[in-house]
Amino acid sequence: MSATQNDQMSGSSQGNGATKPAVDIVEVAPRDGFQVVKPFIETDLKIRIIEALAASGLKRMEIGAFVSPKAIPQMADITEIMQRVTLPAGLRTAVLVPNRKGLEMAVEAGVKDIHWVVSVSESHNQNNVRRSVNESLQELRAAWEGVQRDDVRVRFNLATAFDCPFEGRTDESAVFACLDAALAFLPPGEIGIADTTGRAATDHVRSLFTSLQERYGPQGVTFAFHGHDTYNLGVANALAAYDAGIRSFDGAAAGLGGCPFAPGASGNTATEDLVFAFEHMGVSTGIDLEALLNAADLAMTVAPELAAGRIRQVPRARALSGFGAASQGIAA
Ligand code: COA
Ligand code: ZN
Repeated sequence: MSATQNDQMSGSSQGNGATKPAVDIVEVAPRDGFQVVKPFIETDLKIRIIEALAASGLKRMEIGAFVSPKAIPQMADITEIMQRVTLPAGLRTAVLVPNRKGLEMAVEAGVKDIHWVVSVSESHNQNNVRRSVNESLQELRAAWEGVQRDDVRVRFNLATAFDCPFEGRTDESAVFACLDAALAFLPPGEIGIADTTGRAATDHVRSLFTSLQERYGPQGVTFAFHGHDTYNLGVANALAAYDAGIRSFDGAAAGLGGCPFAPGASGNTATEDLVFAFEHMGVSTGIDLEALLNAADLAMTVAPELAAGRIRQVPRARALSGFGAASQGIAA
């Protein structure tokens, strides 16, 4: 799909006198955010947070992962969460899976959006899912051919697409090689490109997304940016991706997150920071920032010591005092 078609699908918004394409925000705090929290978060609290996030108008959310409970004990209650949570009909709920068993369990549980994670770098893939990159790709191929259904979408999530905690900067050619292999059997759709460590610089984000869209856009592939804020570049990187034509962004409320198998990675870019930045620029997210901030305050309680993001720390009246041309000075 071309950038223009994509813009037409997602609509556009009026802000600062200009028309700008809207964005889709995918909330990942219940998966990326919670997976890094060591003490088990009670299922009731997880459900309350997921429901509060959904009430902010989010249209997409990763609500957990079907992974080995030995690898990530925090995700062990995903089936119970799916059975008990009450979500708006329009919300696209997704889960992350690392292997065939996860894909099959997710389909069995009725999930329609499945995010399959593979790392570009061999060492992170081994550390994360105990497979070579090629083994992960072959397993995805067999698993997808086994469950393929019109109403189920697989988003191929490419981790360490910019930087690997063990191998350093990732070559663009390695990203292409993974995507060429996956797109040989997956239908064109959305692909998640992750800055797992948060170490990508803004020029790198811009150049990789520009190349990816040139190479795969004509096949009908679109991309989502999954950013981490370890080096305080999360929002800047998202805006660079937006300038390069990306319209789908992962974020985690309260800036929680991090891969337990990627040393040195900290939280995702805070969803509320992304929403503030986009709305202030006149880019519609469809999200009520006040409701999102309240949900982020609740999400923060699971691990206050890991929470991050800026907008939650601004006096609430100021943060909510209008965007763009409608911005009002609030002295409080
Ligand atoms: N969902 C739930 N349980 C799963 C599972 C899944 N997707 N995959 C495996 N299991 C269970 C197995 O049934 C087995 O249980 P048992 O010991 O009670 O028999 C156990 O987990 C180990 O299974 P095995 O196939 O031997 O896996 P492994 O130990 O080689 O680990 C992965 C491989 C991929 C399952 C594991 O590394 C994993 O879950 N990684 C996810 C990492 C992650 O989420 N990272 C953060 C996001 S990027
Ligand atoms: Zn992540």
